[in-house]
Amino acid sequence: MIASISQDVDEAISLLQQGELVAIPTETVYGLAANGLDATAVAKIFAAKARPSFDPLILHTSHADRLSDFVLDVPAPLRLLAEQYWPGPLTIVVEKQSIVPDITTSGLPTVAVRVPAHPLALSVLERLDFPLAAPSANPFGYVSPTTARHVADQLGDQISMILDGGPSTVGLESTIVSWQEDKVHIVRKGGLPVETIESIVGPVILADHSSSNPLAPGMLASHYATRTRIVLSTSIDSVLERHPPDRVGVLRFSAYEPTVPTAHQIVLSRSADLTEAASRLFAAMRSLDALDIDVIVAELVPDRGLGRAINDKLRRASAL
Ligand code: TXA
Ligand code: MG
Repeated sequence: MIASISQDVDEAISLLQQGELVAIPTETVYGLAANGLDATAVAKIFAAKARPSFDPLILHTSHADRLSDFVLDVPAPLRLLAEQYWPGPLTIVVEKQSIVPDITTSGLPTVAVRVPAHPLALSVLERLDFPLAAPSANPFGYVSPTTARHVADQLGDQISMILDGGPSTVGLESTIVSWQEDKVHIVRKGGLPVETIESIVGPVILADHSSSNPLAPGMLASHYATRTRIVLSTSIDSVLERHPPDRVGVLRFSAYEPTVPTAHQIVLSRSADLTEAASRLFAAMRSLDALDIDVIVAELVPDRGLGRAINDKLRRASAL
């Protein structure tokens, strides 16, 4: 099987109705979608990604009104966030109804749900009578895809269709929030900044970045890895003592590193804009990973707004 890449929404809908996998564009990253209420279809997602069965999926739907088809009560603070930021890069974890199969939630009594802000994804979701389970469309543990080409490169022989909606504009996965012991918890930092969430619901509980909690593998220390080792460094000197400059790749926030050839460098945002940096991060990691080099030296970005999620991904990508 070699995936076709197209904008054919009708074809995507027809495949999904038949229980097949389709990669879909979202504003965060591309998702590997299947009928989230069909255990057999969901099993194909786990197989294609080589994803461990303890890693639960996110259900995608076209509108908050449709939540009552498959979840129980939505706690008021999570409802408030969903009203404000859906469609958008926000996922809420709520109690599921029994119609959601155990494989979708890895046996948890809760399910993660979001409404993506992408016109093609929404037109597919609006016309389906079931929600779509969709993890990021990458092999488990690797950098998430932000273009149809990224998906084709790694999963093109596992799926029949990739719906091409152009590059993902946000470029980081959704921020995941849950409600535990009367508090909003950030399960995963992502495309909606923590500060924005706190402006609506007040102070939140942040999961520890080094967590190895198997309920949230997006929080696993070594997630988002490249094949080439990534090291975090404010000074490149110690790396250049051990590697010649042409064997070193560099990922920088807003300015080039003068001691390394620019062909091996990517600057995320010349104007030091965190939104632009977020949208380019995963493609930059992939480009550097494709070079014939020994190591990638990455610089952390300012630790505010989307910068906190960017730094979280960089720390995980460098933790081996
Ligand atoms: O932006 C996104 O969220 C993308 C696009 C495609 O929507 N999806 C995505 O899915 O990033 P995935 O499968 O790569 O990450 C889902 C994360 C996992 O780390 C999983 O553990 C967590 O959501 N999760 C899912 N259900 C959960 C639950 N019931 N409780 C806690 N965490 C949950
Ligand atoms: Mg993922």
